[in-house]
Amino acid sequence: MIATQNLALQYAAADRLVAVLSGVSLELADGEFVALMGPNGSGKTSLARCLNGIIPPSQGAVMVDGLDTRDVKHMLEIRRAVGLVFQHPDNQMVAPTVEREIAFGLENLGVPRPEMRRRVEEMLLRFDLLPYRQHAPHQLSGGEKQRVALASILAMQPRHIIFDEPTSLLDHPSRVRLFETISELRANTSSASAPAILLITQFAEEALFAERLLVLHEGRLIMQGAPHELFQNAEAFQQIGLQPPLEFRVHRQLLANGQASVSLQDLLLDPILQ
Ligand SMILES: Nc1ncnc2c1ncn2[C@@H]1O[C@H](COP(=O)(O)OP(=O)(O)O)[C@@H](O)[C@H]1O
Ligand SMILES: [Mg+2]
Repeated sequence: MIATQNLALQYAAADRLVAVLSGVSLELADGEFVALMGPNGSGKTSLARCLNGIIPPSQGAVMVDGLDTRDVKHMLEIRRAVGLVFQHPDNQMVAPTVEREIAFGLENLGVPRPEMRRRVEEMLLRFDLLPYRQHAPHQLSGGEKQRVALASILAMQPRHIIFDEPTSLLDHPSRVRLFETISELRANTSSASAPAILLITQFAEEALFAERLLVLHEGRLIMQGAPHELFQNAEAFQQIGLQPPLEFRVHRQLLANGQASVSLQDLLLDPILQ
């Protein structure tokens, strides 16, 4: 489980501290799939970095499977336990070729060679990267880099996973593949060892996949709940510059036009596949 208690974070600017996160208390239970939305600059990436211990909180606490991220002796264990797929994949690439990039984390973990090769092949196949295995990561397109970043983190089989806007550069088939992968991660693990998965996204329809949606605004959690219920309150999203998924808006418009016979369920498409 990943949990924060009254987490606050400030960055030092030239002559003062800038508050980025304030009073954030949340729990991501084992096996839970949670989405996080918020406008640009609301603190989503900063929160992700706090949750895997890259940044210690300024105040409050972040606990990963009972370990406090402020305790330096747990640093390595926490970083391994919480896989973070960075928003900007360039920040993550270190190796000269795609396949060595995917193997890099496994080498650090001391994964035996045959197992390492098996996992690298599986990830190359899963994310359509076989033709690029010998390519230099920095020469790939944005979407290809994003797939390498996903493959590199998932190959390490971290206990929990945070995806920071992983689909921003992906085409439709790659997006479908990512959501299939998330479903498999959830299905293949027994509940005792199931990962907590946090998906940061700017696409409201992706949040419909999650069991719970968190909404961050100016560093504070302003909404938490079932995505279908939160999205009924379109005003709350519009006030902070976000939108519920298209079907929710169409349904509202139909109701406003007196066409109450069309239900939201009739309108809802499979959020990814259609
Ligand atoms: N290393 C940093 N130093 C100073 N300010 C930062 C740093 N990283 C992020 N910020 C600021 O913190 C705020 C939140 O940023 P971020 O967490 O990236 O938000 P989001 O991911 O929601 O767009 C922004 O105002 C950003 O400019
Ligand atoms: Mg961000």
